[in-house]
Amino acid sequence: METKTATPPYLSYGSLIHAWRNEIKYTHAMVSQNTGIARDRLSELEKGYQKPTWEELEKLAKEFHVSVRDLLPMDDDRERGVIILRNSEAVKMDQFRAERLQYTYWCRAMSSTLPNFKPVELLLHLTEKEDVVLNRGHFFHQYTQVLHGGPVGFVWIGEGETHYEEFQEGDSWLIPGFVPHGFWSPDPANLGRILAITFGQSLASGDARQELNLISADNASRIINDQEEYY
Ligand SMILES: [Fe+2]
Repeated sequence: METKTATPPYLSYGSLIHAWRNEIKYTHAMVSQNTGIARDRLSELEKGYQKPTWEELEKLAKEFHVSVRDLLPMDDDRERGVIILRNSEAVKMDQFRAERLQYTYWCRAMSSTLPNFKPVELLLHLTEKEDVVLNRGHFFHQYTQVLHGGPVGFVWIGEGETHYEEFQEGDSWLIPGFVPHGFWSPDPANLGRILAITFGQSLASGDARQELNLISADNASRIINDQEEYY
């Protein structure tokens, strides 16, 4: 007979299911009847001996009046308490727009424990501002700084007009969410590199005005229709 002394493999799932069920004081019998998940199965899930399916998580989330996300354990990707990413191991991607190589990206140190913080480095290949294809703005805000090379050209749409600015090494600027923008390198012999850190902006901000702005039809359709989102 199987002994169950070691830590159950799916305890991180089970403890969340148990905790949410306990919050609303439902019994196994009640949850089983409402969700169609057998009582034995429910018991095994809560103890962490079996892994819930996505369908079960959806049923349980509905039963507990929470989102599926509330039933997913946090994936902590830190090592020795921190995140270290060597340049040689960074994910690198080329971005083409209008059949031109526009940017090369390197994803920098990110962590599942800081999901709203996304640093990316960009090498700016275009040397003519007329060639830049702007994005449509993105959900997160963006901190931007010229790392080296340069100058760096920055084009954006603000208050209905297109603006251009040039920056030198060390210059920094902020691009709030939903502002369409793009970058180029004015000096072909000295391509610019920038660090673009997108951050913040969640629907659960607690700021009613910000949330209303985020879910406005105009913003929502802009973002949803942008199939090829990029920085
Ligand atoms: Fe961006």
